[in-house]
Amino acid sequence: MRLLQLAFVVALASGVAAILIYITGVSNLDGSFHLSSEDLESLESLQSHFRKCVSANGLGLQAVTGKDNCEVSLVFPSNTAPNWKDPKTGEREGLSFNFNLCEAVATWEQVRNSTTILTREFIDALPNGWEEYAWRRINKGVHLNNCENRTLCMEKLSLVLPDRPPYAPKQLGRCAVIGNSGDLLKTKFGKEIDSYDAVIRENGAPIENFTEYVGTKSTFRLLNRGSAKALDKVAELYGIYTIFRLVGGLILICKHTKNFKSTDKGKEVLIVKTTIHDIMNKMIREIPILNPVYLMLGASFGSAAKGTGLKALEFALSICDTVDMYGFTVDPGYKEWTRYFSESRQGHTPLQGRAYYQMMECLGLIKIHSPMRADPNRIVKWVPSQSLITAARIASEKLLRRVGAGSSDPLAKCSIIAKQLKAKFAVLMGSRKAAVEHYKYVRGTTMYPLEHNPGHGQLCTVPSK
Ligand SMILES: *[C@@H]1O[C@H](CO)[C@@H](O)[C@H](O)[C@H]1NC(C)=O
Ligand SMILES: *[C@@H]1O[C@H](CO)[C@@H](O)[C@H](O)[C@H]1NC(C)=O
Ligand SMILES: *[C@@H]1O[C@H](CO)[C@@H](O)[C@H](O)[C@H]1NC(C)=O
Repeated sequence: MRLLQLAFVVALASGVAAILIYITGVSNLDGSFHLSSEDLESLESLQSHFRKCVSANGLGLQAVTGKDNCEVSLVFPSNTAPNWKDPKTGEREGLSFNFNLCEAVATWEQVRNSTTILTREFIDALPNGWEEYAWRRINKGVHLNNCENRTLCMEKLSLVLPDRPPYAPKQLGRCAVIGNSGDLLKTKFGKEIDSYDAVIRENGAPIENFTEYVGTKSTFRLLNRGSAKALDKVAELYGIYTIFRLVGGLILICKHTKNFKSTDKGKEVLIVKTTIHDIMNKMIREIPILNPVYLMLGASFGSAAKGTGLKALEFALSICDTVDMYGFTVDPGYKEWTRYFSESRQGHTPLQGRAYYQMMECLGLIKIHSPMRADPNRIVKWVPSQSLITAARIASEKLLRRVGAGSSDPLAKCSIIAKQLKAKFAVLMGSRKAAVEHYKYVRGTTMYPLEHNPGHGQLCTVPSK
Protein backbone atom coordinates (compact mmCIF):
# COMPACT_ATOMS: atom_id res chain seq x y z
CA MET A 1 0.00 0.00 0.00
CA ARG A 2 2.80 2.42 0.98
CA LEU A 3 4.55 1.50 -2.24
CA LEU A 4 1.42 2.25 -4.22
CA GLN A 5 1.10 5.65 -2.55
CA LEU A 6 4.71 6.40 -3.28
CA ALA A 7 4.22 5.40 -6.89
CA PHE A 8 1.21 7.68 -7.06
CA VAL A 9 3.14 10.64 -5.65
CA VAL A 10 6.03 10.00 -8.04
CA ALA A 11 3.63 9.76 -10.97
CA LEU A 12 1.87 12.94 -9.93
CA ALA A 13 5.16 14.78 -9.45
CA SER A 14 6.52 13.72 -12.79
CA GLY A 15 3.21 14.67 -14.38
CA VAL A 16 3.47 18.16 -12.89
CA ALA A 17 7.12 18.35 -13.96
CA ALA A 18 6.15 17.31 -17.47
CA ILE A 19 3.53 20.05 -17.58
CA LEU A 20 6.04 22.59 -16.28
CA ILE A 21 8.57 21.49 -18.87
CA TYR A 22 5.86 21.81 -21.48
CA ILE A 23 4.91 25.30 -20.32
CA THR A 24 8.41 26.67 -20.03
CA GLY A 25 9.70 24.71 -22.98
CA VAL A 26 12.95 24.38 -21.11
CA SER A 27 13.94 21.26 -19.22
CA ASN A 28 16.37 22.85 -16.80
CA LEU A 29 14.49 21.83 -13.66
CA ASP A 30 16.91 19.04 -12.92
CA GLY A 31 19.93 21.20 -13.62
CA SER A 32 20.53 19.67 -17.05
CA PHE A 33 22.33 22.85 -18.06
CA HIS A 34 25.12 21.97 -15.66
CA LEU A 35 28.31 21.10 -17.52
CA SER A 36 30.11 18.00 -16.28
CA SER A 37 33.87 17.66 -16.45
CA GLU A 38 33.39 15.38 -19.48
CA ASP A 39 31.45 18.18 -21.17
CA LEU A 40 34.25 20.64 -20.57
CA GLU A 41 36.82 18.11 -21.75
CA SER A 42 34.92 17.57 -24.98
CA LEU A 43 34.88 21.31 -25.68
CA GLU A 44 38.62 21.54 -25.01
CA SER A 45 39.25 18.55 -27.23
CA LEU A 46 37.13 20.09 -30.00
CA GLN A 47 39.16 23.31 -29.81
CA SER A 48 42.43 21.43 -29.93
CA HIS A 49 41.37 19.33 -32.97
CA PHE A 50 40.00 22.45 -34.55
CA ARG A 51 43.27 24.39 -34.23
CA LYS A 52 45.24 21.51 -35.73
CA CYS A 53 42.67 21.02 -38.50
CA VAL A 54 42.70 24.68 -39.56
CA SER A 55 46.47 24.72 -39.51
CA ALA A 56 46.71 21.52 -41.61
CA ASN A 57 43.99 22.35 -44.17
CA GLY A 58 43.51 26.12 -44.17
CA LEU A 59 46.31 27.15 -46.59
CA GLY A 60 47.86 29.59 -44.14
CA LEU A 61 44.86 30.20 -41.87
CA GLN A 62 45.43 29.69 -38.14
CA ALA A 63 42.87 29.22 -35.37
CA VAL A 64 43.49 30.95 -32.04
CA THR A 65 41.45 30.10 -28.96
CA GLY A 66 39.63 33.05 -27.45
CA LYS A 67 38.76 33.76 -23.84
CA ASP A 68 36.65 30.64 -23.33
CA ASN A 69 36.21 27.18 -24.82
CA CYS A 70 33.75 28.43 -27.42
CA GLU A 71 35.48 31.48 -28.84
CA VAL A 72 37.90 31.08 -31.67
CA SER A 73 39.58 33.53 -34.05
CA LEU A 74 40.58 32.55 -37.54
CA VAL A 75 43.62 34.58 -38.52
CA PHE A 76 45.06 35.09 -42.00
CA PRO A 77 48.83 35.43 -42.52
CA SER A 78 49.95 39.04 -41.97
CA ASN A 79 51.07 39.34 -45.60
CA THR A 80 47.54 38.71 -46.87
CA ALA A 81 46.36 41.69 -48.91
CA PRO A 82 42.70 42.38 -48.14
CA ASN A 83 41.55 43.50 -51.58
CA TRP A 84 37.89 43.89 -50.80
CA LYS A 85 36.56 47.22 -49.57
CA ASP A 86 33.21 47.77 -47.92
CA PRO A 87 31.39 49.97 -50.46
CA LYS A 88 29.62 51.87 -47.66
CA THR A 89 32.55 52.65 -45.38
CA GLY A 90 35.42 52.22 -47.84
CA GLU A 91 37.19 50.10 -45.23
CA ARG A 92 39.16 47.00 -46.10
CA GLU A 93 38.39 43.66 -44.46
CA GLY A 94 40.38 42.71 -41.39
CA LEU A 95 42.62 39.66 -41.22
CA SER A 96 41.06 38.09 -38.13
CA PHE A 97 37.51 36.81 -37.66
CA ASN A 98 35.87 35.64 -34.45
CA PHE A 99 33.52 32.69 -34.43
CA ASN A 100 31.71 30.84 -31.69
CA LEU A 101 32.40 27.11 -32.10
CA CYS A 102 29.71 26.13 -29.60
CA GLU A 103 27.04 28.08 -31.50
CA ALA A 104 28.25 26.63 -34.77
CA VAL A 105 28.37 23.00 -33.65
CA ALA A 106 24.97 23.17 -31.91
CA THR A 107 23.19 24.96 -34.76
CA TRP A 108 24.71 23.08 -37.69
CA GLU A 109 24.19 19.66 -36.06
CA GLN A 110 20.54 20.63 -35.60
CA VAL A 111 20.30 21.49 -39.31
CA ARG A 112 21.31 17.92 -40.12
CA ASN A 113 18.10 16.64 -38.51
CA SER A 114 15.77 19.39 -39.72
CA THR A 115 13.56 19.99 -42.69
CA THR A 116 14.44 23.08 -44.69
CA ILE A 117 11.44 23.16 -47.05
CA LEU A 118 8.43 25.27 -46.14
CA THR A 119 5.25 23.18 -45.84
CA ARG A 120 1.58 23.74 -45.17
CA GLU A 121 1.73 21.75 -41.93
CA PHE A 122 4.47 24.09 -40.64
CA ILE A 123 2.37 27.20 -41.24
CA ASP A 124 -0.72 25.47 -39.81
CA ALA A 125 1.14 24.53 -36.61
CA LEU A 126 2.87 27.85 -36.09
CA PRO A 127 0.95 30.21 -33.80
CA ASN A 128 -0.22 33.04 -36.08
CA GLY A 129 1.36 31.09 -38.92
CA TRP A 130 -1.08 32.24 -41.56
CA GLU A 131 -1.59 35.76 -40.21
CA GLU A 132 2.07 36.66 -39.78
CA TYR A 133 4.55 34.11 -41.10
CA ALA A 134 2.79 33.33 -44.39
CA TRP A 135 2.46 37.03 -45.04
CA ARG A 136 6.23 37.46 -44.70
CA ARG A 137 6.80 34.85 -47.40
CA ILE A 138 4.60 36.62 -49.95
CA ASN A 139 5.89 39.61 -51.86
CA LYS A 140 4.35 42.76 -50.41
CA GLY A 141 3.77 44.51 -53.72
CA VAL A 142 0.16 43.39 -53.50
CA HIS A 143 -2.71 44.63 -51.37
CA LEU A 144 -2.67 42.04 -48.66
CA ASN A 145 -3.47 42.94 -45.13
CA ASN A 146 -1.38 40.54 -43.04
CA CYS A 147 -3.15 37.68 -44.75
CA GLU A 148 -6.45 38.76 -43.23
CA ASN A 149 -7.96 37.10 -46.25
CA ARG A 150 -6.49 33.71 -45.61
CA THR A 151 -7.97 32.21 -48.76
CA LEU A 152 -6.08 34.72 -50.86
CA CYS A 153 -2.82 34.05 -49.01
CA MET A 154 -3.22 30.31 -49.37
CA GLU A 155 -3.88 30.77 -53.06
CA LYS A 156 -0.68 32.74 -53.49
CA LEU A 157 1.41 30.12 -51.75
CA SER A 158 -0.41 27.07 -53.10
CA LEU A 159 1.91 26.40 -56.04
CA VAL A 160 5.00 26.20 -53.85
CA LEU A 161 3.59 24.74 -50.63
CA PRO A 162 3.55 20.96 -50.19
CA ASP A 163 1.56 19.58 -47.26
CA ARG A 164 4.50 17.55 -45.99
CA PRO A 165 8.23 17.86 -46.67
CA PRO A 166 9.27 16.26 -49.97
CA TYR A 167 12.66 15.24 -48.52
CA ALA A 168 13.85 13.67 -45.30
CA PRO A 169 17.16 13.94 -43.41
CA LYS A 170 19.86 11.65 -44.84
CA GLN A 171 17.66 10.74 -47.78
CA LEU A 172 20.58 11.28 -50.13
CA GLY A 173 24.12 9.99 -49.85
CA ARG A 174 26.93 12.09 -51.36
CA CYS A 175 26.01 15.60 -52.44
CA ALA A 176 27.98 18.39 -54.08
CA VAL A 177 27.19 22.09 -53.72
CA ILE A 178 28.52 24.15 -56.62
CA GLY A 179 29.21 27.84 -56.10
CA ASN A 180 29.66 30.31 -58.94
CA SER A 181 33.26 31.40 -58.34
CA GLY A 182 35.51 32.15 -61.31
CA ASP A 183 37.97 29.76 -59.64
CA LEU A 184 35.93 26.92 -61.14
CA LEU A 185 37.60 27.52 -64.51
CA LYS A 186 41.02 26.66 -63.04
CA THR A 187 40.25 22.96 -62.56
CA LYS A 188 38.28 20.48 -64.66
CA PHE A 189 35.97 19.20 -61.92
CA GLY A 190 33.13 18.29 -64.34
CA LYS A 191 33.43 14.48 -64.28
CA GLU A 192 34.04 14.45 -60.55
CA ILE A 193 30.95 16.61 -59.90
CA ASP A 194 28.78 14.29 -62.01
CA SER A 195 29.74 11.34 -59.80
CA TYR A 196 27.71 12.67 -56.84
CA ASP A 197 24.24 11.38 -55.98
CA ALA A 198 22.88 14.92 -56.10
CA VAL A 199 24.25 18.27 -57.27
CA ILE A 200 23.04 21.59 -55.89
CA ARG A 201 23.59 24.77 -57.91
CA GLU A 202 22.86 28.43 -57.35
CA ASN A 203 20.91 31.15 -59.14
CA GLY A 204 21.50 31.48 -62.87
CA ALA A 205 24.64 29.31 -63.02
CA PRO A 206 24.80 27.86 -66.53
CA ILE A 207 25.82 24.31 -67.38
CA GLU A 208 25.98 24.49 -71.17
CA ASN A 209 29.46 25.42 -72.48
CA PHE A 210 31.02 24.82 -69.04
CA THR A 211 30.41 21.10 -68.53
CA GLU A 212 34.13 20.26 -68.35
CA TYR A 213 34.40 22.48 -65.30
CA VAL A 214 31.00 22.29 -63.63
CA GLY A 215 29.56 18.93 -64.76
CA THR A 216 26.14 18.25 -66.27
CA LYS A 217 24.14 16.93 -63.35
CA SER A 218 21.83 19.33 -61.56
CA THR A 219 19.37 18.09 -58.97
CA PHE A 220 18.53 21.24 -57.02
CA ARG A 221 18.98 24.95 -57.58
CA LEU A 222 18.86 27.58 -54.80
CA LEU A 223 17.48 30.92 -55.94
CA ASN A 224 17.82 34.37 -54.44
CA ARG A 225 15.30 37.13 -55.03
CA GLY A 226 16.59 38.27 -58.41
CA SER A 227 16.85 34.79 -59.90
CA ALA A 228 13.45 33.76 -58.59
CA LYS A 229 11.84 36.67 -60.42
CA ALA A 230 13.42 35.41 -63.64
CA LEU A 231 12.19 31.86 -63.01
CA ASP A 232 11.60 31.26 -66.72
CA LYS A 233 15.28 31.92 -67.52
CA VAL A 234 16.41 29.62 -64.74
CA ALA A 235 14.06 26.83 -65.77
CA GLU A 236 15.52 27.01 -69.28
CA LEU A 237 19.05 26.43 -68.02
CA TYR A 238 18.43 22.80 -67.40
CA GLY A 239 16.59 20.35 -69.55
CA ILE A 240 18.75 21.42 -72.45
CA TYR A 241 20.30 18.02 -72.10
CA THR A 242 18.91 14.58 -71.70
CA ILE A 243 21.42 12.29 -70.08
CA PHE A 244 21.32 8.64 -70.99
CA ARG A 245 23.37 6.37 -68.82
CA LEU A 246 24.25 3.30 -70.82
CA VAL A 247 25.45 -0.03 -69.52
CA GLY A 248 29.16 0.06 -68.80
CA GLY A 249 29.13 3.59 -67.44
CA LEU A 250 29.02 5.25 -70.84
CA ILE A 251 27.17 8.55 -70.72
CA LEU A 252 25.40 9.91 -73.75
CA ILE A 253 24.28 13.51 -73.69
CA CYS A 254 21.73 14.70 -76.22
CA LYS A 255 21.07 18.35 -76.86
CA HIS A 256 17.44 19.20 -77.49
CA THR A 257 16.45 21.29 -80.43
CA LYS A 258 15.04 24.73 -79.77
CA ASN A 259 11.42 23.63 -79.99
CA PHE A 260 11.57 20.74 -77.58
CA LYS A 261 8.33 20.09 -75.74
CA SER A 262 8.16 21.48 -72.25
CA THR A 263 7.36 18.01 -70.92
CA ASP A 264 10.93 17.06 -71.83
CA LYS A 265 12.35 19.50 -69.32
CA GLY A 266 14.68 18.32 -66.63
CA LYS A 267 13.53 17.55 -63.14
CA GLU A 268 15.78 20.09 -61.46
CA VAL A 269 14.08 21.21 -58.25
CA LEU A 270 14.02 24.97 -57.69
CA ILE A 271 14.24 26.26 -54.13
CA VAL A 272 13.48 29.90 -53.51
CA LYS A 273 15.26 31.53 -50.58
CA THR A 274 13.04 34.59 -50.26
CA THR A 275 9.39 35.15 -51.12
CA ILE A 276 6.80 34.11 -53.68
CA HIS A 277 5.87 36.80 -56.22
CA ASP A 278 2.74 37.07 -58.32
CA ILE A 279 5.01 37.06 -61.36
CA MET A 280 6.45 33.68 -60.26
CA ASN A 281 2.98 32.20 -59.84
CA LYS A 282 2.05 33.46 -63.27
CA MET A 283 5.14 31.91 -64.85
CA ILE A 284 4.64 28.58 -63.08
CA ARG A 285 1.03 28.42 -64.29
CA GLU A 286 1.32 29.86 -67.75
CA ILE A 287 4.69 28.94 -69.24
CA PRO A 288 4.26 26.39 -67.57
CA ILE A 289 7.24 25.66 -65.37
CA LEU A 290 7.17 21.94 -64.67
CA ASN A 291 10.09 21.84 -62.27
CA PRO A 292 9.01 21.47 -58.65
CA VAL A 293 9.37 24.84 -56.89
CA TYR A 294 9.59 25.19 -53.09
CA LEU A 295 10.37 27.90 -50.57
CA MET A 296 13.26 27.37 -48.20
CA LEU A 297 12.77 27.41 -44.46
CA GLY A 298 16.14 28.16 -42.98
CA ALA A 299 17.79 28.33 -39.58
CA SER A 300 19.28 31.65 -38.60
CA PHE A 301 23.03 31.93 -38.22
CA GLY A 302 23.30 35.66 -37.77
CA SER A 303 25.19 37.89 -40.16
CA ALA A 304 28.07 35.47 -40.74
CA ALA A 305 26.04 33.11 -42.89
CA LYS A 306 23.43 34.71 -45.07
CA GLY A 307 24.46 34.32 -48.70
CA THR A 308 22.97 31.92 -51.22
CA GLY A 309 26.10 29.76 -50.97
CA LEU A 310 25.59 29.11 -47.29
CA LYS A 311 21.87 28.53 -47.75
CA ALA A 312 22.73 25.95 -50.42
CA LEU A 313 25.07 24.21 -47.96
CA GLU A 314 22.37 24.34 -45.29
CA PHE A 315 19.85 22.75 -47.63
CA ALA A 316 22.35 20.05 -48.63
CA LEU A 317 23.23 19.29 -45.00
CA SER A 318 19.55 18.80 -44.20
CA ILE A 319 19.08 15.99 -46.76
CA CYS A 320 22.52 14.50 -47.51
CA ASP A 321 24.90 12.22 -45.62
CA THR A 322 28.00 14.05 -46.86
CA VAL A 323 28.38 17.45 -48.49
CA ASP A 324 31.28 18.46 -50.75
CA MET A 325 31.81 22.03 -51.86
CA TYR A 326 33.11 23.24 -55.26
CA GLY A 327 33.31 26.65 -56.85
CA PHE A 328 33.57 28.88 -53.80
CA THR A 329 36.36 31.47 -53.57
CA VAL A 330 38.34 29.81 -50.79
CA ASP A 331 42.01 29.84 -51.86
CA PRO A 332 44.62 32.48 -51.01
CA GLY A 333 45.28 35.16 -53.62
CA TYR A 334 41.84 36.71 -53.84
CA LYS A 335 41.98 39.67 -56.24
CA GLU A 336 38.45 40.39 -57.36
CA TRP A 337 35.04 38.82 -57.25
CA THR A 338 34.52 36.79 -60.41
CA ARG A 339 31.89 34.35 -61.59
CA TYR A 340 32.76 31.55 -63.99
CA PHE A 341 30.19 32.74 -66.49
CA SER A 342 30.36 36.52 -66.33
CA GLU A 343 32.49 39.57 -65.72
CA SER A 344 33.63 40.41 -62.20
CA ARG A 345 31.20 42.29 -60.05
CA GLN A 346 30.79 43.71 -56.57
CA GLY A 347 31.28 40.85 -54.12
CA HIS A 348 31.20 40.72 -50.35
CA THR A 349 33.54 39.84 -47.46
CA PRO A 350 35.65 37.20 -49.23
CA LEU A 351 38.07 36.65 -46.33
CA GLN A 352 35.32 36.26 -43.77
CA GLY A 353 33.59 33.82 -46.10
CA ARG A 354 36.76 31.81 -46.58
CA ALA A 355 37.28 31.64 -42.81
CA TYR A 356 33.68 30.54 -42.24
CA TYR A 357 33.91 27.71 -44.80
CA GLN A 358 37.17 26.58 -43.21
CA MET A 359 35.39 26.45 -39.87
CA MET A 360 32.67 24.31 -41.44
CA GLU A 361 35.24 21.92 -42.89
CA CYS A 362 36.97 21.59 -39.53
CA LEU A 363 33.65 20.83 -37.83
CA GLY A 364 33.25 17.89 -40.22
CA LEU A 365 30.27 19.43 -42.01
CA ILE A 366 31.69 19.82 -45.50
CA LYS A 367 34.74 19.00 -47.58
CA ILE A 368 36.30 21.80 -49.63
CA HIS A 369 37.41 21.24 -53.24
CA SER A 370 39.29 24.14 -54.82
CA PRO A 371 42.11 24.67 -57.33
CA MET A 372 44.64 24.38 -54.50
CA ARG A 373 42.83 21.44 -52.94
CA ALA A 374 41.96 19.58 -56.13
CA ASP A 375 42.92 16.01 -55.17
CA PRO A 376 39.58 14.19 -54.86
CA ASN A 377 41.14 11.87 -52.30
CA ARG A 378 42.48 14.65 -50.09
CA ILE A 379 41.97 13.74 -46.46
CA VAL A 380 40.88 16.52 -44.14
CA LYS A 381 43.45 16.05 -41.38
CA TRP A 382 42.48 16.42 -37.74
CA VAL A 383 38.78 16.70 -38.48
CA PRO A 384 36.99 15.80 -35.20
CA SER A 385 35.42 12.33 -35.06
CA GLN A 386 31.64 11.96 -35.07
CA SER A 387 31.70 10.95 -31.40
CA LEU A 388 33.69 14.06 -30.43
CA ILE A 389 31.29 16.27 -32.44
CA THR A 390 28.33 14.67 -30.64
CA ALA A 391 29.90 15.15 -27.20
CA ALA A 392 30.86 18.76 -27.98
CA ARG A 393 27.42 19.42 -29.42
CA ILE A 394 25.72 18.20 -26.23
CA ALA A 395 28.08 20.31 -24.08
CA SER A 396 27.41 23.34 -26.29
CA GLU A 397 23.65 22.89 -26.03
CA LYS A 398 23.94 22.97 -22.24
CA LEU A 399 26.26 25.96 -22.26
CA LEU A 400 23.96 27.88 -24.58
CA ARG A 401 20.87 26.77 -22.63
CA ARG A 402 19.25 25.33 -25.69
CA VAL A 403 15.82 23.69 -25.48
CA GLY A 404 16.19 19.99 -24.65
CA ALA A 405 19.93 20.26 -23.94
CA GLY A 406 21.44 17.01 -22.77
CA SER A 407 18.21 15.02 -23.17
CA SER A 408 18.30 11.69 -24.94
CA ASP A 409 14.71 12.17 -26.10
CA PRO A 410 14.78 13.68 -29.60
CA LEU A 411 11.40 15.32 -28.94
CA ALA A 412 12.84 17.29 -26.02
CA LYS A 413 14.11 19.80 -28.61
CA CYS A 414 10.57 20.58 -29.73
CA SER A 415 9.01 23.74 -28.32
CA ILE A 416 5.90 23.33 -30.49
CA ILE A 417 4.42 19.90 -31.21
CA ALA A 418 1.61 19.29 -33.69
CA LYS A 419 0.09 16.42 -35.63
CA GLN A 420 1.37 15.74 -39.12
CA LEU A 421 -0.88 16.46 -42.06
CA LYS A 422 -1.99 13.41 -43.96
CA ALA A 423 0.00 13.68 -47.16
CA LYS A 424 -1.12 12.55 -50.55
CA PHE A 425 2.35 11.24 -51.21
CA ALA A 426 4.58 9.77 -48.56
CA VAL A 427 8.23 10.82 -48.58
CA LEU A 428 10.09 8.23 -50.57
CA MET A 429 13.19 7.41 -48.64
CA GLY A 430 14.14 4.58 -50.93
CA SER A 431 16.20 1.97 -49.20
CA ARG A 432 18.82 4.26 -47.69
CA LYS A 433 19.61 2.68 -44.38
CA ALA A 434 20.77 5.94 -42.80
CA ALA A 435 17.46 7.66 -43.61
CA VAL A 436 15.38 4.78 -42.25
CA GLU A 437 17.47 4.60 -39.07
CA HIS A 438 17.12 8.32 -38.54
CA TYR A 439 13.37 8.08 -39.10
CA LYS A 440 13.17 5.40 -36.39
CA TYR A 441 15.32 7.45 -34.00
CA VAL A 442 13.00 10.46 -34.24
CA ARG A 443 9.93 8.16 -34.25
CA GLY A 444 8.69 9.64 -37.51
CA THR A 445 8.87 13.22 -36.23
CA THR A 446 9.57 16.05 -38.68
CA MET A 447 11.58 18.90 -37.17
CA TYR A 448 11.43 22.43 -38.52
CA PRO A 449 13.75 25.27 -37.49
CA LEU A 450 12.09 28.23 -35.79
CA GLU A 451 13.87 31.43 -36.65
CA HIS A 452 14.71 33.68 -33.69
CA ASN A 453 13.13 31.21 -31.26
CA PRO A 454 14.69 31.46 -27.79
CA GLY A 455 16.89 28.44 -27.14
CA HIS A 456 16.55 27.31 -30.76
CA GLY A 457 13.53 25.16 -29.94
CA GLN A 458 12.03 23.54 -33.02
CA LEU A 459 8.56 23.04 -34.38
CA CYS A 460 7.89 19.32 -34.57
CA THR A 461 5.13 17.41 -36.29
CA VAL A 462 4.47 13.87 -35.15
CA PRO A 463 2.73 11.03 -36.99
CA SER A 464 -1.03 10.98 -36.46
CA LYS A 465 -1.36 7.45 -35.11
C1 LIG B 1 -10.58 36.63 -50.27
O1 LIG B 1 -9.88 36.20 -51.42
C2 LIG B 1 -10.62 35.34 -52.27
C3 LIG B 1 -9.72 34.82 -53.35
O2 LIG B 1 -9.11 35.83 -54.08
C4 LIG B 1 -11.84 36.11 -52.81
O3 LIG B 1 -12.60 35.26 -53.63
C5 LIG B 1 -12.69 36.61 -51.63
O4 LIG B 1 -13.73 37.41 -52.09
C6 LIG B 1 -11.84 37.41 -50.63
N1 LIG B 1 -12.61 37.70 -49.44
C7 LIG B 1 -12.69 38.92 -48.88
C8 LIG B 1 -13.51 39.03 -47.66
O5 LIG B 1 -12.12 39.90 -49.37
C1 LIG C 1 27.29 28.42 -75.65
O1 LIG C 1 28.15 28.80 -76.70
C2 LIG C 1 27.49 29.04 -77.93
C3 LIG C 1 28.54 29.30 -79.00
O2 LIG C 1 29.49 30.23 -78.55
C4 LIG C 1 26.52 30.20 -77.76
O3 LIG C 1 25.81 30.45 -78.95
C5 LIG C 1 25.53 29.86 -76.64
O4 LIG C 1 24.67 30.95 -76.39
C6 LIG C 1 26.27 29.50 -75.38
N1 LIG C 1 25.32 29.05 -74.38
C7 LIG C 1 25.21 29.61 -73.15
C8 LIG C 1 24.19 29.05 -72.24
O5 LIG C 1 25.92 30.53 -72.79
C1 LIG D 1 20.28 13.80 -35.12
O1 LIG D 1 19.85 12.48 -35.36
C2 LIG D 1 20.80 11.47 -35.05
C3 LIG D 1 20.19 10.13 -35.44
O2 LIG D 1 20.04 10.04 -36.82
C4 LIG D 1 21.12 11.54 -33.57
O3 LIG D 1 22.11 10.57 -33.25
C5 LIG D 1 21.63 12.93 -33.22
O4 LIG D 1 21.82 13.02 -31.83
C6 LIG D 1 20.64 13.99 -33.66
N1 LIG D 1 21.23 15.31 -33.49
C7 LIG D 1 20.64 16.29 -32.83
C8 LIG D 1 21.33 17.60 -32.80
O5 LIG D 1 19.57 16.15 -32.28
